[in-house]
Amino acid sequence: MPVLKALLVNRRALLNRQKKIITMSTQQLKTTKNNNAFSKYTLMVLFTLTSILIGYYLITRAFPFLIISEENYGPYFFQRAYWVFAHVIFGILATLIGPFQFIPQFRNKYLAVHRKLGQVYIFATVLGGLSSMYLATTSAVNLTYSSGLFTLGFFWVAAALMALVAIKNGKVELHKEWMIRSYILTSAFVIARLFVDVLVSLEIASRIEAITLTNWAGWVIPLFLAELIIQGRKI
Ligand code: HEM
Repeated sequence: MPVLKALLVNRRALLNRQKKIITMSTQQLKTTKNNNAFSKYTLMVLFTLTSILIGYYLITRAFPFLIISEENYGPYFFQRAYWVFAHVIFGILATLIGPFQFIPQFRNKYLAVHRKLGQVYIFATVLGGLSSMYLATTSAVNLTYSSGLFTLGFFWVAAALMALVAIKNGKVELHKEWMIRSYILTSAFVIARLFVDVLVSLEIASRIEAITLTNWAGWVIPLFLAELIIQGRKI
């Protein structure tokens, strides 16, 4: 009899423990769901704001170069019209394709499209980067300005090729990391123009100072911030 009693007590304790675990898991599930909803909402807001910014700078600063005329280009760019035209086409392509590649739902549902767009993106960044290296050597602002653009162009090509080699070798995580770096470099076009506008309108810098500064800071700082997140998650 005492053995039966002990067994019953043990069973009750076990049931109570199971109940506790189920209640805890439900609470954890609710918290995780709330966190997920919050981060989804934050991501959507960030995505919308970034898209507006990208749209604004593409429409006002890049699209006018799609029609080759001295009026649209101005004498400075018109001398190198065909190089600028090619560079702008590749730049626009890369800027527009990039965001779709980062949406997991899109990637998972349309993997074949993701691959095709990825190939176009790599092609556009490599040719866009090569043309920008030529344009940098023929620009006439100052050495800091042209060296910033030349180096950016070089890393634009390098990051895209690293992402390509990583995926060809089946290293998906490395591919994702290099794609993040690559799109940050692609976004330098928007980031630099945004900062030039802010610095000049707040009279913090002259136009020349602002474009020279942002040709370096406009991509080195975002790239390093991204690196803190990418590497920080592994610590
Ligand atoms: C991220 C790497 C990029 C590099 C290294 C780069 C480099 C350059 C260079 C060297 C010039 C000529 C500047 C001069 O002669 O003073 C230039 C002009 C231009 N680039 Fe890029 N570019 C990049 C990305 C882009 C992207 C993504 C777009 C388009 C979405 C773009 C659109 C333009 C336009 C419209 C011009 C001519 C007008 C202007 O300077 O605002 N570029 N770029």
